[in-house]
Amino acid sequence: MDNETRVWLDGEIVKYSEATVPILTHSLQYGSGIFEGIRSYNTGTSASIFRLEDHVDRFFRSMKIYSMKTNFTKEEIVRGIKDVISVNKFTDAYIRPFAFYNDDRIGLGTRDKKVSIYIAAVPFKSYFSQSKAKGLRCKVSSWHRPGSAFLPIEAKASGNYLNSVLANREAVSAGYDEAILTSPSGYVTEGPGENIFMVVGKELITPGRDSDILIGITRDTIMNISSDIGLHVRERFVHREELYTADELFFGGTAAEITPILEVDGMIISGGLPGKSTESLAKLYNDTVTGKVEKYRKWLTPVP
Ligand SMILES: Cc1ncc(COP(=O)(O)O)c(C=O)c1O
Repeated sequence: MDNETRVWLDGEIVKYSEATVPILTHSLQYGSGIFEGIRSYNTGTSASIFRLEDHVDRFFRSMKIYSMKTNFTKEEIVRGIKDVISVNKFTDAYIRPFAFYNDDRIGLGTRDKKVSIYIAAVPFKSYFSQSKAKGLRCKVSSWHRPGSAFLPIEAKASGNYLNSVLANREAVSAGYDEAILTSPSGYVTEGPGENIFMVVGKELITPGRDSDILIGITRDTIMNISSDIGLHVRERFVHREELYTADELFFGGTAAEITPILEVDGMIISGGLPGKSTESLAKLYNDTVTGKVEKYRKWLTPVP
């Protein structure tokens, strides 16, 4: 991150180098941060932020789950996000709003701790390297996704990602690109930072809310646009072995966009090449986020 890049901190636009926090902050010690991952795209005439209000709504829902209180309104956060993109003159960027306890008193209690919010952004193109973006080799992790009886998995909270870090690290150490996590009862949930989809014939199957997943905004986008290419969406429990026999598999997420999965646990999927439906959906998704599809422009917020 360039020290001259501007970020939003509690309502002020400041240089990245000036946006400092106490090192003993509760959120660093205990992982109690709440965050979002949002993208802006170059839509030709301007930068546009994809599904901005949906992301800000989820940000506030995540804070509510943890009883984290802020005086900032959703509108102020939306404004702050737009300001960060425009002041830095970014087009293709990844935006990270982050709410945290800006308080260095030791102790787990959060009731009277000050909540701060920052919004940072970085220029961004692709989450996976070019070769991996063509298709991933995945491993079903020995780490399970904690169910919502253990941690509220629908909150996008920093602490949840320790589980993701362990799963990703295990997969990469074993020579794979990414992990797929199952629930404690063995059903497929999602990737460390992506939802998962399976194409079987004309069905697009994805684990439902009862599978303890983050309710992804990309997931919702994919479920909405998939009928345009003749796929019927089904949310249901997915067995691990179904991944091995699927016609096509892919991840969907703000950072990962649509990334094909070509191998799971050494089993080759769709002949080791991205499947036709995945390719069509990836193209349609790309056209959608860059404003090429009229009926989906409603999801874009242009930044003047
Ligand atoms: C665990 C997890 N699942 C799914 C997703 C996909 O969510 P979204 O499409 O809202 O980015 C993400 C990314 O934020 C994630 O971290």
